[in-house]
Amino acid sequence: MMILGIETSCDETAAAVLEAPLRVCSSVVASQVAAHAAYGGVVPELACREHVKALPLVLDEALVESGCGWGDIGAIAVTYGPGLAGALLTGLAAAQALHVRLGVPLVAVNHLHGHLFSAFLDPASPAPDTQYPFLGLVVSGGHTCLVRVAGPGDYELLGTTVDDAAGEAFDKGANLLGLGYPGGHRIDALSRDGNAHAVRFPRGVVKPGSGLTGDLDTRCCFSFSGVKTALRYHLEADPLDAGNAGRLADLAASYQAAIVDALVKRVGYALEGGSFRALAVGGGVSLNRGLRGALEALCGARGIRLHLTPPAYCGDNAAMIAAVAGLGAGRQITDVAALDVEPSPAVLF
Ligand code: KG4
Ligand code: ZN
Repeated sequence: MMILGIETSCDETAAAVLEAPLRVCSSVVASQVAAHAAYGGVVPELACREHVKALPLVLDEALVESGCGWGDIGAIAVTYGPGLAGALLTGLAAAQALHVRLGVPLVAVNHLHGHLFSAFLDPASPAPDTQYPFLGLVVSGGHTCLVRVAGPGDYELLGTTVDDAAGEAFDKGANLLGLGYPGGHRIDALSRDGNAHAVRFPRGVVKPGSGLTGDLDTRCCFSFSGVKTALRYHLEADPLDAGNAGRLADLAASYQAAIVDALVKRVGYALEGGSFRALAVGGGVSLNRGLRGALEALCGARGIRLHLTPPAYCGDNAAMIAAVAGLGAGRQITDVAALDVEPSPAVLF
């Protein structure tokens, strides 16, 4: 069965055609990064308008690239949350209209569930049903969480961030270093030539009893707001000299090391607590070379299989949304007209 995926939760307008369960026939992503760059972050109203403009073209392109006609589509999978309300509504309205026009089932997919399974879009990866239970790490601009995945639709949240997401920490750090927005990949590139031990930035430990994590074990939870503040104070005390490329690289490498260490330590702890067959990692920050290398080392040492998302599916995309439906998860909607978006992260799992 061919599934049309639609994803508009933030600043990427995406559509994909996937042959169930996991074969990607096309995946088209129109990035709005250039439209938001001048503002140093995503502007929600602008994101909605950009989605409205881009979505018809992106849908057409996804169909053409897949070699399918509209009549070949057997189901539609759409992101209903979490994300920006107006941005989500754009994709949902398109999916509802296509559902009526094509007369095919509509499946509502949680954006984070898409990131959890994106590693399995790699044609070389084993089928996910041989890998349960696996530990899922989602690291993006909006989210950082650890999830026990026992099957499609069977999730347990183990840890989350109590403040900023890992990608947000990269972007805020990049901004302080004058690297522009979004700057995660620039910190990554500069880190290659820097000394990661030049400055010791905080690893953001969440204290037990802080009341911020509910029932979650604080040892699986993240806090990234302190690292950015530490960089700010460091730069206030000792401003960057534009000519000192060596110091910029050292700061980037030290800053990246703090974020990567914090992530890897929590993953290590979560792996100890459950009998996991594998670790699957997705989200824009999973492009980070330091993180990929550190997770490879960790999983190698623990004898755990590691599934890293192929670069094309690390950022937001619709193939991962269709994949959730392809695996039989997601919510099949009976009253399609009543389906609404769920922007809040409180409804994740
Ligand atoms: O998954 P994504 O495209 O969007 C969200 O769902 O948020 O992730 C975007 C985030 C941005 O914060 C960006 O700076 C970060 O991923 N990012 C990276 C790298 N490439 C993208 N962070 C660190 N290293 C990278 N190479
Ligand atoms: Zn995302």
